[in-house]
Amino acid sequence: MTASNKKFPQVVIFAHWATLLFVLAAYFSSQSPIEGGWRGQMHVIAGSLVFIFFFIRIFLYMRFKDQFPEVSFMSGMQKRAFQLMKLFLYTGLFAVPLLGWLTLSSTEASFSLFGMGLPEVLFSSNADLGDIHPLIANIFMTLIGLHALAALIHHFILKDDVLKSMR
Ligand code: HEM
Ligand code: HEM
Repeated sequence: MTASNKKFPQVVIFAHWATLLFVLAAYFSSQSPIEGGWRGQMHVIAGSLVFIFFFIRIFLYMRFKDQFPEVSFMSGMQKRAFQLMKLFLYTGLFAVPLLGWLTLSSTEASFSLFGMGLPEVLFSSNADLGDIHPLIANIFMTLIGLHALAALIHHFILKDDVLKSMR
């Protein structure tokens, strides 16, 4: 029984902060990748790493969830907000890069990373997604900001061990 764990398993902590790094890299390099240049290349690579880390994190969650620190909630509403936020964050990790790929795939017939052409099958979508990818990406970034703010409130105002559990 590991319910008294104070910290997330090390590998979960690593995956959590790696995700943050890739999300930030994708966000701050964001522009249409077809405009060329290093920013577009970085956007696709960092964004795709976010997608890959979604699956790694789902695997880690299922493998280690019984070792996650137990959370004590002040109210039923706080518990629901916590669960909903976690669901949104995981959903964003999957949906934002996927929508990015579908956008690229529907507007381009090909794309090269470091001069290497990517397989044609990645460019067969003809869904017209408009601005849905940037829109959902910005909502996702806002939620991440709120999640980070909540962690800082725990650390500096409530002075509990929530932030330490992820370090
Ligand atoms: C967490 C990952 C990602 C985030 C946060 C993100 C965020 C954004 C944002 C904010 C924009 C708008 C940029 C602007 O117009 O100034 C954008 C554009 C774009 N992104 Fe991503 N993106 C991510 C992953 C990806 C991936 C994996 C691809 C796949 C190739 C991609 C493809 C695109 C495309 C094609 C556009 C241009 C869309 C348009 O002009 O309508 N993104 N992204
Ligand atoms: C500065 C940015 C961030 C800070 C300070 C932060 C802080 C934390 C802390 C303290 C925890 C442990 C408490 C809890 O379970 O809620 C946590 C968990 C979590 N964080 Fe973050 N985080 C940040 C960025 C992100 C990003 C970019 C994502 C991805 C979308 C994310 C997704 C999660 C998820 C899903 C959990 C639950 C544990 C898990 O399933 O791995 N966080 N975060």
